[in-house]
Amino acid sequence: MQLTSEEKKMADGEYGYATQKAMEILVTLGDIYGAERMIPVSSVQVAGVSYANLEEAGLEWLAEMAKDGKVRVLTTLNPAGMDLEEWKRLGISEDFARNQQRVIDAFSRMGIITTCTCTPYLVGNVPHFGEHIAWSESSAICYANSVLGARTNREGGPSALGAALTGRTPEYGFHLDNKRQPQVKAQVQAKLDGTYQFGALGKVLGEKLGEKISYITGIPSASVEELKSLCASYATYGGVALFHIEGITPDRVSQIPVETVTITDEDIKAAINALNQETSIDFVSIGCPHATLAELEYIANKLKGKQVKKEVWITTARPTKQMADRMGFTKMIEGAGAKIAADTCCVVAPIKGRFVGLATDSAKGCYYGSGKNRFKVKLMSIDECIEEAIR
Ligand code: F3S
Repeated sequence: MQLTSEEKKMADGEYGYATQKAMEILVTLGDIYGAERMIPVSSVQVAGVSYANLEEAGLEWLAEMAKDGKVRVLTTLNPAGMDLEEWKRLGISEDFARNQQRVIDAFSRMGIITTCTCTPYLVGNVPHFGEHIAWSESSAICYANSVLGARTNREGGPSALGAALTGRTPEYGFHLDNKRQPQVKAQVQAKLDGTYQFGALGKVLGEKLGEKISYITGIPSASVEELKSLCASYATYGGVALFHIEGITPDRVSQIPVETVTITDEDIKAAINALNQETSIDFVSIGCPHATLAELEYIANKLKGKQVKKEVWITTARPTKQMADRMGFTKMIEGAGAKIAADTCCVVAPIKGRFVGLATDSAKGCYYGSGKNRFKVKLMSIDECIEEAIR
């Protein structure tokens, strides 16, 4: 790879140990993928924050990097394993909380903004069209590339941290125009309504098309909430980092692919059925990806004057919760006995096996709820989730 003199200084250790290690990771990645040079990035999002996933080995590496590492660009974090302020209420142990805080402290020493969310684009880490970034949460990557038209590869935690510490990323993959063109057309004939149905669409597309970049037609409109659900699910079931939707997403495509698949109402129904297991429900979680302010308002109004009878987590970003606090939504939700869990989610929190059955509007939540946390799952609309919670 061709490095600039500044990049060579980083690689030679003139800016210290962490920057040198960071450049080493990026050069190795660039060599593997045939990048010719580094390009500047202006925004980073680092995944691999939950102590449940990092454990002691991951934390030691972070602490080492934090000895002299300082980020050069706006950098935020993916959800942590707990609400950083109200972890006790979520049943998190003292031991886990102490270790999770050590992780957050290490990131903080590097100058990373410790907003822990998979929707950084809702809370101030929002790149514009064409901007080169390095993000590492799969749903956020898909949203940034597809909906915002920014450019990021699917970074892992270490390569995203490397980009943060150097302000660079190797130029390959989704940073290049010719790697962003659609390969297959997906004609959606199904009528879609609500986050859970868009999540089901992501499952269908992911399973039918894998990582191929699709050009989706037949979706006249979609809300931010529906798009974030689609991104999360499509990235989960297909490993996808980019798609285009006619009339909605901003990338210009040079040619519409000839190869076409059709998605019908039956496909969506079958995907929803496949995610509905036989189970009783003792845990309801909404906010995967993290809930928007509009979702919190909607849920608050739905719960007003009611009382939930199950464990209910509404997961969101801390700044979104702060706005909900100010607007009285938190009081309405928590008055009904549900919990707003900021900074975390039902997948990265250490709750494996703690519940029997999870009801959620998130197809991604279903995938990891059953695969990682060993719950039986049910995919339903937000309204149905709330009915289930108060039943
Ligand atoms: Fe976000 Fe957790 Fe879902 S990181 S996309 S809320 S699994």
